[in-house]
Amino acid sequence: MRRRVAPLLGAILLLWAIASLPVGAEPLSDGVYAVEYELLQGDSDSVSIANDYFEKPALLKVDGDKQVLQLTLNHSKWVQELEVHSGDGFADAKVVAEDEEADTRVVELDVDGKLDEPFPVKMHVVIDELEIPYDHAYTVRVAVDADSLKETNQEWIDSVSTGSTIWFWIATAIVIVATIFVAMRLFGSKK
Ligand code: HEM
Repeated sequence: MRRRVAPLLGAILLLWAIASLPVGAEPLSDGVYAVEYELLQGDSDSVSIANDYFEKPALLKVDGDKQVLQLTLNHSKWVQELEVHSGDGFADAKVVAEDEEADTRVVELDVDGKLDEPFPVKMHVVIDELEIPYDHAYTVRVAVDADSLKETNQEWIDSVSTGSTIWFWIATAIVIVATIFVAMRLFGSKK
C-alpha cells in the first residue's frame, strides 16, 4: 500500500510545486501608457492630502529597461519643491513642462524597477494667500497601480533637457565655425 501511495504523493507534490512557481511577468513592450497612481502618506497606506494636487492618470514611458513616469501637478505654485530619490539622497524632479496660467507643471521621474512598491517623494508646500500662511515639508509615497496600464494617445512631453542639449550643440557648432573663420582670416592676412 505504502509503495503505491508514495509515488502518488510525490506526483501531487511535484504538480503543486510547479503550479505555485511564480509566472514570469511579461516584460512591457516599448511605448507610452496611461497609468493610475495615488499619493500615500509617508508613514501609512492612507491616501495623502497631496493626492488631490496631482492629476490622474500619469504617463509611463517604457524604453527597454528604462521606465519613466510623467506626473502633472495642478497647483504648481504651491508645491515649490518636489524631490525624488537620486543616488544616496534626494534631488529635484525634472520639470518637463510648465503652464503658469493653468498653474500646472509636469515632472518626470525615473522609476526603473520601482513600480512594485510605493516610492517616496519629498515636497515643500508654501501657500502665502491663506490667512495663516502654510509652509510645510512632507515626504509622501507614490503608489503606481501597475495593473491599470493602458495604451494611450496622450502625448509624451519630450524633456526640456533634450531641447537645451540641442541648443548646446548648435552653440558649439557656431563657436567652432567662428573660430575657423577668424583663424583663416588671421593666417590669410599674414601671407
Ligand atoms: C488650502 C490648502 C491646504 C490646506 C488648508 C492644508 C491643510 C492641511 C492640514 C490641516 C494638514 C494636517 C492634516 C492631518 O495631518 O491629518 C495637512 C497635511 C498635509 N498636507 Fe496640506 N493643506 C493644503 C494644501 C496642501 C498641498 C497643496 C499639498 C501638496 C501638494 C499638501 C500636502 C499635505 C501633506 C502631504 C500632508 C501630510 C498628511 C498627508 O499626507 O495626508 N497640502 N494639510
